[in-house]
Amino acid sequence: MRLEIDRERLRGDIEANAAFGAVEGEGRGRTNLTGSEANREAREHLVSRMEEAGLEVRIDAVGNVVGHWTPESASSAREPIASGSHLDSVPEGGIFDGPLGVYAALESVRAMQEAGLSPDRPIAVVSFTEEEGQRFAPGLLGSSVAVGERSVEEALALVDGEGRSLVDALEAIGFRGEGRLDASGWEAFVELHVEQHDRLETMGIPVGVVSAITGITHCAVSIEGEANHAGATPMGDRTDALCAAGEFVLDVERAANETVAADSESAVGTVGSLEVRPNATNVVPGGVDLSIDVRDVEYDSMDAIVGRAERSLARIERERGVETTLDRGFDLEPTPMSPRLREAARASGEEAGITTMELHSGAAHDAMHVARVTETGMLFAPSLDGVSHSPREWTDWEDCARATRVLGGTLARLAGATP
Ligand code: CO
Repeated sequence: MRLEIDRERLRGDIEANAAFGAVEGEGRGRTNLTGSEANREAREHLVSRMEEAGLEVRIDAVGNVVGHWTPESASSAREPIASGSHLDSVPEGGIFDGPLGVYAALESVRAMQEAGLSPDRPIAVVSFTEEEGQRFAPGLLGSSVAVGERSVEEALALVDGEGRSLVDALEAIGFRGEGRLDASGWEAFVELHVEQHDRLETMGIPVGVVSAITGITHCAVSIEGEANHAGATPMGDRTDALCAAGEFVLDVERAANETVAADSESAVGTVGSLEVRPNATNVVPGGVDLSIDVRDVEYDSMDAIVGRAERSLARIERERGVETTLDRGFDLEPTPMSPRLREAARASGEEAGITTMELHSGAAHDAMHVARVTETGMLFAPSLDGVSHSPREWTDWEDCARATRVLGGTLARLAGATP
């Protein structure tokens, strides 16, 4: 199967998209928030590029964009193979995070058309609304609706910081469509994304095949001691909540390190926020609220770290006389990628003479939602120095083309394309 990826055409698409909401300064930054003028321009450009390639474009009620290529060899009744990502960005984000996956999917379709391939399934190119969650939602909004986790009505009623609803914002830019994009109607979904880490660069390997997307647990912890005068309270009479918290923070680090050494090297545990009450120089700290973030591709090892954190709190209560609570308020299990799709990606790399390696994703992606309703896979392209969500985010154009070549081959395989 010979698929020729047109690197300059792909680059032209990503560069054109980068101009919408471009920020001045060093690097290549853009701010593209859902429902903004820049977002309208990015969406309109995508629709026109899809139409130029002969795709049939639909916009759903929450602004998800999908373009179907249904060649003569394919029956429109068969479930499509879908691929895509998102066009929105964080404020002053990079130009590849999201758009690479959308335009690589489109380039894959163009390459299949030019190679004269005859897939027996349609190919769907997708751009999800509000992946970054910078305006209306915590993130992954469009895909949450496409998998039925959130209703269209619920999504449209979401408001931004100024009280403007998603439905108003989409109507204002002409992207409130109809119906609901239903990802469960796809035979498979593959998302290409930048790695946002430096493992591929370090290994000198151009394309990553994602094995799993990590699960995430957030725990809210409170430690209650006794606030008192820092001068008049002798050391022996204190119940210092911050000293207790200090021990706990180090216990969480130890729990993560020991889990990495013994069970799962991808496990991480972080205490990233801490609020001290009353937070005054001359007062013995009376209370601390802190949060733990635990992630891994193995749910058992996430559980193990949380379990050790709970035992640490019990010990600290006994030894220091503080009172503690731990609330595991947010819990998302790891999402393994489909073994069949991983194999298709590996074989497609091999066929194209492009080395691939398996790695996990530490960041969340729309693929995480889609995996709940259909077979899902992900590919990574190298991120220079591992930087993303920044104008310094960079992926070499040749690496974009290589990853797209592997994506195109994977989609062609899954769609039953024969030369
Ligand atoms: Co992204």
